[in-house]
Amino acid sequence: MDKLIIRRIEEGDIATLAAIEAESFSTPWSEQSFRELLSIDYAHYLVAVYDGEIAGSAGMRVICNEGNIDNVVVKNTLRGKGIANSLIAELIRLGDAMGVEAYTLEVRVSNSAAIHVYEKNGFVNEGIRPRFYEKPVEDAMIMWRR
Ligand SMILES: CC(C)(COP(=O)(O)OP(=O)(O)OC[C@H]1O[C@@H](n2cnc3c(N)ncnc32)[C@H](O)[C@@H]1OP(=O)(O)O)[C@@H](O)C(=O)NCCC(=O)NCCS
Repeated sequence: MDKLIIRRIEEGDIATLAAIEAESFSTPWSEQSFRELLSIDYAHYLVAVYDGEIAGSAGMRVICNEGNIDNVVVKNTLRGKGIANSLIAELIRLGDAMGVEAYTLEVRVSNSAAIHVYEKNGFVNEGIRPRFYEKPVEDAMIMWRR
């Protein structure tokens, strides 16, 4: 996919990413949440740029050789083009280069598209956390790639 560039998040991406969050999640990250990440050295947040347009993001905090992935999101109109898959693959490539030994994330149990992307990237279901999410209340699936 030669139209797609994956790079590290920059200050100038934040307003657009917050707007993509707001259209995608019932409890979206604010611009301030993104801004705080820029100064955290163990946080690695990536942006996907598709055909020149900011298309989404995915991030990882690395603590004790474990990569905790969150904030995986792709703009509504650009879904289904492999963008989330590329973001996750790049996070894993980065993490492996840093010595990350295991990756984890949580996802709503009804979020079949996200679960599919994570399974394609080697994640497996290792447990359910009941009523983890709000708006609406829903169980979380805890996934790991070891
Ligand atoms: C989940 C999300 C990030 C996926 O982004 P995306 O760029 O469309 O993902 P990709 O194009 O890389 O892959 C989507 C895959 O899911 C599949 N898919 C789509 N809808 C599906 C569904 N309802 N059930 C199962 N699989 C589905 C697609 O066929 C594709 O698989 P394939 O590549 O094997 O054909 C995007 O839908 C999104 O931003 N959703 C809202 C935010 C969110 O839920 N984030 C995850 C929080 S944990």
